[in-house]
Amino acid sequence: MITVPEFKKAKEQKRRLTMLTCYDASFAKILDESPIDVLLIGDSSAMVMQGFDSTIHSTVESLAYHVACVARASRKKFIVADLPFLSTRKSRDFGVDASERLIRAGAHAVKIEGVRGNEDLIHHLVESGIPVMGHLGLTPQFVNAFGGMKVQAKTRDEQERLLLDAVAFESLGAFSLVLECIPAPAASAITAQLKIPTIGIGAGSDVDGQVLVLQDLLGFNPGFKPKFLKTYLDGYALFQKAFSDFHEEVQNGTYPSEKESYSSSPNPRDATLAGLA
Ligand code: KIV
Repeated sequence: MITVPEFKKAKEQKRRLTMLTCYDASFAKILDESPIDVLLIGDSSAMVMQGFDSTIHSTVESLAYHVACVARASRKKFIVADLPFLSTRKSRDFGVDASERLIRAGAHAVKIEGVRGNEDLIHHLVESGIPVMGHLGLTPQFVNAFGGMKVQAKTRDEQERLLLDAVAFESLGAFSLVLECIPAPAASAITAQLKIPTIGIGAGSDVDGQVLVLQDLLGFNPGFKPKFLKTYLDGYALFQKAFSDFHEEVQNGTYPSEKESYSSSPNPRDATLAGLA
């Protein structure tokens, strides 16, 4: 498992980091045997798993649930959990309690969207032994303030402000920084300025790692085609084929065949679980 000090080392050694979202035990098991460095229990779970139209519906309770599902099945991966909408803004105690719940559920670190107004909490968490990953650019918890999911920091002034925010995250002790949907040159400039690694999504290739939502990478949602997304599997078509094949075989009687059926036992009470296999 990658450790917090190894994030900086990876950057120094120019080894790019990979992070994928994960919300359940089935995928956690598969990802645990993969080379992916980090599992993110993101607040995008509100959209992907719960069907909401934005991440602001995510709660500490729902994230702690997904963290626990993943942590039970993962032994080898560093797990980061999002602090959801407003959880960093109510009070420092609220943010600490929320972080404690996510860490006790099995996360190794928390991710915080935005630095302005969160300085005290970030510093306090870091000093308390809770590693913090920053998140800047298109921070989805600000969707209403941004007027939609739009590329951020397009102007020089906005890019200067973003660089200041990135430096602030690093100064406060964040161990890495997600940069979402910003022009590639801005991400490159921030990456060059920081000692901690940047992890991009829609931030070009000149960053220290990449993150994607798992279901997007697997092509579960063919209607979702942002410019930054590359799908590595046509998951939607593969699943539809499996569902159709099952339906068809049930209709025409080829499933279940004898191979998938139990034969009768001389004494049904003697049939142990192993004997049923
Ligand atoms: O919640 C999430 O999926 C995220 C990634 C897009 C970085 O925060």
